[in-house]
Amino acid sequence: MVSLKTATLSRCSAGTLHPPTNMSAAMCAFILTLSSALGPTVVSGVLSAPTHVRLTSYNMNLVLMWDSPEGPASSIVYTTEYKSSVAVSFNKVGCLNISNLECDLSHLNISIFQYGKYMGRVRAQSGTESSAWTESNQITLDKDTIIGSPDVSLSSNGAAIEVSIKDPVFMISALREVYHSATYNITYWQHGQREKARSNSNIQQNRVVLNDLDPWTKYCVQVQIITEWNPSKPSAAVCESTTSEEEAPWVAAGVTFGIVAISVALVVVTVVYRKHISHFLCPKDALPQHFKEYLLAPPNSSMYLAMRNSHPPDEIYNQVSIIADGRTLEEGQPLEAAGSSCSKQPDTT
Ligand SMILES: *[C@@H]1O[C@H](CO)[C@@H](O)[C@H](O)[C@H]1NC(C)=O
Ligand SMILES: *[C@@H]1O[C@H](CO)[C@@H](O)[C@H](O)[C@H]1NC(C)=O
Ligand SMILES: *[C@@H]1O[C@H](CO)[C@@H](O)[C@H](O)[C@H]1NC(C)=O
Repeated sequence: MVSLKTATLSRCSAGTLHPPTNMSAAMCAFILTLSSALGPTVVSGVLSAPTHVRLTSYNMNLVLMWDSPEGPASSIVYTTEYKSSVAVSFNKVGCLNISNLECDLSHLNISIFQYGKYMGRVRAQSGTESSAWTESNQITLDKDTIIGSPDVSLSSNGAAIEVSIKDPVFMISALREVYHSATYNITYWQHGQREKARSNSNIQQNRVVLNDLDPWTKYCVQVQIITEWNPSKPSAAVCESTTSEEEAPWVAAGVTFGIVAISVALVVVTVVYRKHISHFLCPKDALPQHFKEYLLAPPNSSMYLAMRNSHPPDEIYNQVSIIADGRTLEEGQPLEAAGSSCSKQPDTT
C-alpha cells in the first residue's frame, strides 16, 4: 500500500513539472486527495520529514535516532538540533548534514548535564529542499537512561566465592556520581538450580564474599544495580566451583609455618655463630681513632689520585695493614661500612 502510494505520488509530482504521459491530471488529483485522507499528508514537491524521531540514552549517552522520510528521495542528509527543557527554542546544533539515521549528541563537544532534560529535532535535506522538523520525545538523563549491566568476575577461595563487580562506564559522569544510593543485588544459585536462587541486596561494596556455600559445588552469580530510578540490566550469569572447605586454612597455615620456621632458623644461626659473625664484621684489633677518622673522611681527590698512581708513602701503607686479620683491605672495599658498624658495636671479647 505504501509503496504503491509512493510510486503514484512520485509520478504525480513529476507530472506537475512535465505533462502527464500515461495518467490524467484528474486521476492524479483524485489519488492525492485519497492518499492524504488515508495517510500522513505528503505535499508534492516538498521533502517529507523524518519519522519516528526518538531521543535515547544508554549509560548516560544522548543519542537522537530517526527513520528516513517516506517516499523516494536520493542523497538525503539530516540536520539535528536539541535543547534542554529550560530553553524555549532549539538553540543547539547537533549533527550537520549527516546521512546516517542517528546523531550521538554526547559524543559531540558539547556540555550535557547529568540531570538535564533534553529534546531533539531532525529535518531532512535533499539538494535545495528541506523538510519540516520532526521533534523527539523529551528525556531526563539520569531518570531515563538505560543502565548497562555490571561486569562480574568470581574467584573461589575454598568453600567461599568472592564476587568482584565493575560498574558500567558512563558517557557522562560515573554511576556512583549520578546515583548516590546505587546498590547491588547479587543473586546466586547452585548450577542447574536457578529456581532455588538466593539474593543479597542492598550491597554497596564492589567486592563481596559469598561464604554460605557448599564445598565442591558449582555456583552461578548474577548482579543487578539498583538505583533510585531504573535498575540496570542484569549481568550475564557467571559460574565458579567451590573447593574443599579446609583448603584455604591449610594453605594459610602451611605458609605461616614456613615463614616461622625460616625465621627461627635464622635466629638460631645468628645466636650460635654470634662470635664468628662479630669477628668477621669487627676484627679484634681496632684501628687507632685518628686513623679511623682519616679513613672515614672523604678522599681528598689530589692525594687519593697520588696514592693510586704512585707508591704510597711507607708509613701510611704499614698502618693500613694493621687491620688485616687474615685478609687485607683492598682498594675499593667499603671502608666506611666496616668502620661504622664496628665503632657502634660493643667489644664482644
Ligand atoms: C548542509 O547542506 C546544505 C544543503 O544541502 C548546505 O546549504 C549547507 O551549506 C550544508 N552545511 C554544511 C555545514 O555543510
Ligand atoms: C571543546 O570545547 C571547548 C570549549 O567549548 C574547547 O576549549 C575545546 O578545545 C574543544 N575540544 C575539542 C576536541 O573540540
Ligand atoms: C534481586 O534480584 C532477584 C532476582 O532477580 C529478585 O528476585 C529480587 O527481588 C531482587 N531484590 C531486590 C531488592 O531488588
